[in-house]
Amino acid sequence: MTADPLTRPTRTPEEVRAFYDTHRTVRHYVTQADGSPLPLPAEHLDAILHAAQRAPTDATAQLYSFIRLVSPEVRARVAELTTNAHIATASEAFVVCLDVRRVGRVLEVAGQAVGHWPAIAVHFGIGDAVLAGQNLLTAAEMLGYQGCWIGGVLNGLEGILDLLELPAGVLPFAALTLGLPAEEPPLRPRLPRSLVVHEDRYQDGAVEELREAIQIMNPIAARGDRPGDWVRLLRAYFALGGSMEKREPGLVAALKRQGLWAGGE
Ligand SMILES: Cc1cc2nc3c(=O)[nH]c(=O)nc-3n(C[C@H](O)[C@H](O)[C@H](O)COP(=O)(O)O)c2cc1C
Repeated sequence: MTADPLTRPTRTPEEVRAFYDTHRTVRHYVTQADGSPLPLPAEHLDAILHAAQRAPTDATAQLYSFIRLVSPEVRARVAELTTNAHIATASEAFVVCLDVRRVGRVLEVAGQAVGHWPAIAVHFGIGDAVLAGQNLLTAAEMLGYQGCWIGGVLNGLEGILDLLELPAGVLPFAALTLGLPAEEPPLRPRLPRSLVVHEDRYQDGAVEELREAIQIMNPIAARGDRPGDWVRLLRAYFALGGSMEKREPGLVAALKRQGLWAGGE
């Protein structure tokens, strides 16, 4: 008799929690003696790419593409453009892109005219890219690897579009590195569940809950002996004059260049 997966889970809740608690973002990987990337066994790479493609997808379309970074020169240049050095040394490195070009080509090949839906493209294209990328990362973690998502692609978007020859309809969401960990980072905290899971309607967290959340999150910003200050980290990214404001014009320009801008001029 075969087990019914709906009534007979193959993992216990404790095992599920334990698996997800092994997740760490890792930025230093085991390399070969000369410092070059340690290749993944072919069947490991095959399994994680299989997992990526098993991700659910909007409207059956699979609105994403991965650019697998293979040549040392391309790796080095993307590491530079994203300001994330581990792209050069990880066992595997990908640029995970939203891709609405391919579905348009399928329609054209089948004699259909492609509609105009740039906002939808960004909405579902990013969703599909993230789902596939996170499947890939989780599968790698099941095999004992760790990885790192890299939003740093926004630091050098124009250069990445040129280097990887990304056509209209294709836009990097982030890069993703994988490898055997050469560091042991701590389990990093998350917000209290009550702030992120709402019941029946959205509810703002109370001021006290937010203050408490800051205390809980502070260790995520610890660097060496320096105690963590989460607000300082958030300020560097999201406050007035922070790095997100600096990235904004480059992303808007890239959306326009790739035919994905739904706003006015
Ligand atoms: C979309 C996204 C972009 C990220 N960008 C970067 C990045 O550019 N560089 C980096 O070192 N880490 C990056 N990270 C990793 C986060 O810093 C990390 O996930 C977070 O600090 C939580 O740590 P944990 O994954 O170990 O729990 C990114 C993560 C995500 C999901």
